[in-house]
Amino acid sequence: MNAKIITIVGGGSTYTPGVVKAILSKKDTFPVKEIRAYDIDEERQNDVAIIVNEVVKAICPECKFFTTTDPKTAFENTNFVFAQIRVGKYAMREQDEKIALKHGAVGQETCGCGGLAYGLRTIYPMVEILDMVEKYAAPNHWILNYSNPAAIVALALKKLRPNARIINICDMPVAIMNSMADILHCDPHDIKPDYFGLNHFGWFTNIWVNGESRFAELKQHAMQHGYLCDVPDEQHWEPSWVHTYGNVKPMMERFPDYLPNTYLQYYLLSQDIVDDSNPDYTRANEVMDGREKTLFDAIKRYKETGAYDDGMFVVGAHGTFIVDLAESLCRENGGRYLLIVKNEGAIADLPDDAMVEIPCYVSPRGIEKISIGHIPTFYKGMIEQQYACEKCLVEGAMENSYNKVLQAFTLNKTIKSSTQAKAILDEMIIANKAYWPELK
Ligand code: NAD
Ligand code: G6P
Ligand code: MN
Repeated sequence: MNAKIITIVGGGSTYTPGVVKAILSKKDTFPVKEIRAYDIDEERQNDVAIIVNEVVKAICPECKFFTTTDPKTAFENTNFVFAQIRVGKYAMREQDEKIALKHGAVGQETCGCGGLAYGLRTIYPMVEILDMVEKYAAPNHWILNYSNPAAIVALALKKLRPNARIINICDMPVAIMNSMADILHCDPHDIKPDYFGLNHFGWFTNIWVNGESRFAELKQHAMQHGYLCDVPDEQHWEPSWVHTYGNVKPMMERFPDYLPNTYLQYYLLSQDIVDDSNPDYTRANEVMDGREKTLFDAIKRYKETGAYDDGMFVVGAHGTFIVDLAESLCRENGGRYLLIVKNEGAIADLPDDAMVEIPCYVSPRGIEKISIGHIPTFYKGMIEQQYACEKCLVEGAMENSYNKVLQAFTLNKTIKSSTQAKAILDEMIIANKAYWPELK
């Protein structure tokens, strides 16, 4: 295999050191000759690059690494773009969460009004990135996108840039499968899921390990403990994640057919989530005081003393998955992954243009979707409502329509009434003045 060039967009992300470590750890089967970091915040990504340089030095010093804020330098002849931007940074995530909570609603990063607000911030910056990549990158490049809210980003980009060579992905199911492997005492790579839904809105319908279904055992475990296990994915150990893994238990008790994605807690347990939240200290605060602070404290320490250890970041499902996928796109019989793709009949009961999360085979030919067939009414109804919500939001952004966006907020299952939807939307418009398309 020819050595590749990879560009990380959102070079200043807290995940960049882990992703670079994951890339270089595969150097024997997936050779990479150059890694470029691109960000609009030069200072932040240059700080993160201090750690990345150490990772490169330790694992693969022959790989070139540099940072840039210039699109041509970033994307010229690149083979892979790994995107992980956060438009408005944690400060805006905090606003999303706190505005919604003030009105008694869920403001999570990707679910409820928080996800809708973040979606309106992210759609057009992602379009700009796609256009720059199209202009400069190698003809058969791939963009692997983690930037959230992935469901809305995927839907919008499919409408606005239908031919872009982008695959939208999520590490949550992979992290859940790491817990499943721990519960079943098997290798995570041996787990093969059956799954359907939208991003952060789906269900495992079976789990296979070396050809044998282990679904019943897992359901029994989830009924008693949710996804709590001895060794969870290394990125999900904080108290709020433990709480999230535990919340799978009440969801299973009520809806025992399938194993839920953890993010369904925001829709099926909305009121409990609001009741359990501290409106003055939300997940954004926890991340700023945790993942972000740990990394930037280490950077500060390095600047002052030259001391470096790699305990200040993790690779986790996040780093492993995106690199496994990139390698699979270069290999015959590459692998089978859950990806966010255009439905086009895969889930029989849903619209063709929905962006669904389903198992797909991946190889140099691209993506081959697995057909799911019909799904039961309860799940279909939930997905249709969420899809309608996300579609109204995307149309609202494209048409600068206040009314469509209000429809989106009202349709979201986490919202009690259009009165609540309007109050939150009107406050979010003011908070997002610098980021949202104008809504008339
Ligand atoms: P972060 O704030 O630490 O990093 C994001 C970086 O993006 C910042 O350095 C920021 O300056 C940069 N940025 C913002 N707008 C940009 C633009 N237009 N062009 C280039 N760079 C831009 O955030 P984080 O917590 O590390 O998360 C990064 C992203 O990855 C978020 O969107 C997060 O939700 C997403 N994520 C997704 C998954 C998934 O499963 N899909 C998993 C983990 C993280
Ligand atoms: C999961 C999700 C991502 C999310 C990430 C981090 O892995 O799949 O979409 O961005 O968690 O969430 P956090 O709250 O830790 O920033
Ligand atoms: Mn995700």
